[in-house]
Amino acid sequence: MSWSKTFEELSKSKHDRDSFDCDESELNTFIQTQAAKHMQAGISRTMVLPGTAPLLNQKYPICAFYSVAPSSIRRETLPAALAKKLPHYPIPVFLLAQLAVHKEFHGSGLGKVSLIKALEYLWDVNAHMRAYAIVVDCLTDSAQGFYQTFGFQVLCEQNERVRMFLPMKTVGPLFG
Ligand SMILES: CC(C)(COP(=O)(O)OP(=O)(O)OC[C@H]1O[C@@H](n2cnc3c(N)ncnc32)[C@H](O)[C@@H]1OP(=O)(O)O)[C@@H](O)C(=O)NCCC(=O)NCCS
Repeated sequence: MSWSKTFEELSKSKHDRDSFDCDESELNTFIQTQAAKHMQAGISRTMVLPGTAPLLNQKYPICAFYSVAPSSIRRETLPAALAKKLPHYPIPVFLLAQLAVHKEFHGSGLGKVSLIKALEYLWDVNAHMRAYAIVVDCLTDSAQGFYQTFGFQVLCEQNERVRMFLPMKTVGPLFG
C-alpha cells in the first residue's frame, strides 16, 4: 500500500475504516465507529490520507488520519509568563483530538507528514477564526515523545493524560 498526495475529509462510502490499525485500540475504535458520527454531529472534522489503490470492496484504505475541533483552556493552566498577557475568560484553542498512522507505515515519516498537514490546516482556519494555541492530549508516553519532537510543551494533566500545547504564533512562521 502506498499513500496518496492529499488528505481529504473522511467519507464512509469512500474510505475503508475497518482495515485501519495503528496498534492503539482507542484510536482504531475512534476512526472505525466514532469519527463519522462526530462529524455528522458537527463537533469535529476528520481528515484522512487514503491509499493510492482501492481494496477488493472498492473502498480506499486509510494510511493516516487526524481530527480537529475547537476547544478552550483556562488561562491558569498556561505558564505564568504567557498567562499574564491573557484575559481571565476561557482561551480559545484548536484541539488536535486524534492523529494516527497505520502501523504498516510507522517510522516511515508519515507521522511527521500528517502532523505538518494538520498544523497547516489549522493555520488556514486561524486566518478566519483565531485561536491561541494547538492542544493535544497524549494517549501514551510515546505519543508525548512524538509531539515533543515537534516543539509541543507540556501544559497540564487532563483526564489522566498529559496535555501539550504549541502556541499559534510558533506555527505561523512554518507556513506564513
Ligand atoms: C505516533 C505516530 C503518529 C508517529 O508516526 P510515525 O510515522 O511512526 O512517525 P515518523 O516516522 O513520522 O517520525 C517523525 C519524527 O518523530 C519522531 N518520533 C516518532 N515517534 C516518536 C516517539 N514515540 N517518541 C519520540 N519521537 C518520535 C521520529 O524519530 C521522527 O523524528 P525525525 O524527523 O527527527 O527523524 C504513530 O506511531 C502512531 O500512529 N502511533 C499510534 C497512535 C498514537 O499514539 N497517536 C498519537 C495520538 S495521542
